Amino acid sequence: MFIVAVVNLKGGCGKTTISTQLAARYAAAGHRSVLGDLDRQQSAIQWVDRRPARLPIIEAMELDTDAMVLPFGEGRMVIDVPAGMKRKALEVVVRGSDALVVPLLPSSFDERGTERFVELISELKPVRKGRRPVAMVANRIRPRSAPARALDTFLAGLEYPAVARLSDAQHYVGAATSGVTLFDLPPTRLRNLREEWAPLLAFLDNLAGLQEQSEVGATG
Ligand SMILES: Nc1ncnc2c1ncn2[C@@H]1O[C@H](COP(=O)(O)OP(=O)(O)OP(=O)(O)O)[C@@H](O)[C@H]1O
Ligand SMILES: [Mg+2]
Repeated sequence: MFIVAVVNLKGGCGKTTISTQLAARYAAAGHRSVLGDLDRQQSAIQWVDRRPARLPIIEAMELDTDAMVLPFGEGRMVIDVPAGMKRKALEVVVRGSDALVVPLLPSSFDERGTERFVELISELKPVRKGRRPVAMVANRIRPRSAPARALDTFLAGLEYPAVARLSDAQHYVGAATSGVTLFDLPPTRLRNLREEWAPLLAFLDNLAGLQEQSEVGATG
């Protein structure tokens, strides 16, 4: 199981939005897709409940860092991590996952919160040793706006790559309610938004592929 944690100390930066979209993309691609929820508010689990039954299945799983039990076998898991996690809990998340996706918005509040978060994870051994690749994702971007440019400058100074830029778009607000993501729509609909995900999906697919290869190597 390839496990991605979507995480930042900062609240409201799009962790649940990105987690749900990613889980739906994995389901649409034919993988077993598990959406793990560490948030006591259970937004991700409730979102799965709202998802129409005709769409590719996403399994919802409640998680607890005090007793972290993760699925194994083939497939992909996305973990929606709540804001403000303490270092110890964060360590459990980092240990249990294969890669970290860190969303942030174009705002000084997000930049400061993310700076603290990046410092914190950089101290954790699996991240420091490069065993947990980190992908920064700029979220709610209005192209060519001054805040978007300021965010690019901020991201350029970080040690982790800015892998994707996602637009500020009404689709994401609707998807939170309807349970229908970009990856559930016909390919011609909202293609511009879907294309913005391509570099992040490629980054994660590449890591998942490497993991699968090493598993085949270990067993075969
Ligand atoms: N790219 C986007 N375009 C438009 N709205 C967005 C986008 N990403 C997120 N939102 C909206 O921003 C709000 C916060 O997003 P979300 O709940 O995903 O953040 P979060 O990081 O999970 O928040 P919390 O820390 O409270 O768990 C939601 O109303 C969501 O619909
Ligand atoms: Mg959330």
